[in-house]
Amino acid sequence: MAAALLLMACGEDAPPRVAGGDAAEGRRILAAQGCTACHVVPGFGLPQGHAGPSLNGFGRRGYVAGVLPNTPDNLLRFLRDPAAIAPRTAMPAPPLDEAELRHLAAFLVTLR
Ligand code: HEC
Repeated sequence: MAAALLLMACGEDAPPRVAGGDAAEGRRILAAQGCTACHVVPGFGLPQGHAGPSLNGFGRRGYVAGVLPNTPDNLLRFLRDPAAIAPRTAMPAPPLDEAELRHLAAFLVTLR
């Protein structure tokens, strides 16, 4: 019963789809890019730095970098060029192509 309720809850509250994004691939890219040097990310080992906000629950956050409503498109805009959205941010633009950014975004929205 509890499991059924849990499943129903997940179904109603599924993360948004990121077109062309594969969350498992995004998780691998996040690890390879060393995003955890600046971000605490659930499910990853140490080291986890604190220069950036924890990404725990990112998918539930209302805003990306406190500036843009948290939609897949806006998340992609931020990831392509963080400083274009948050001009004084310490976050560097990840050296990734559009397909890789979409995988990354697909993983980030699963962080509930
Ligand atoms: C040098 C440190 C640094 C690195 C490396 C870094 N970030 Fe960030 N990140 C930041 C900072 C600082 C912010 C806060 C931006 C702001 O609010 O102005 C941020 C913000 C974010 C946000 C928005 C969080 C929120 O709550 O709105 C996401 C998502 C994010 N980073 C993902 C990543 C990913 C994915 C990577 C790896 C490709 C990465 N970051 C690498 C420093 C970093």
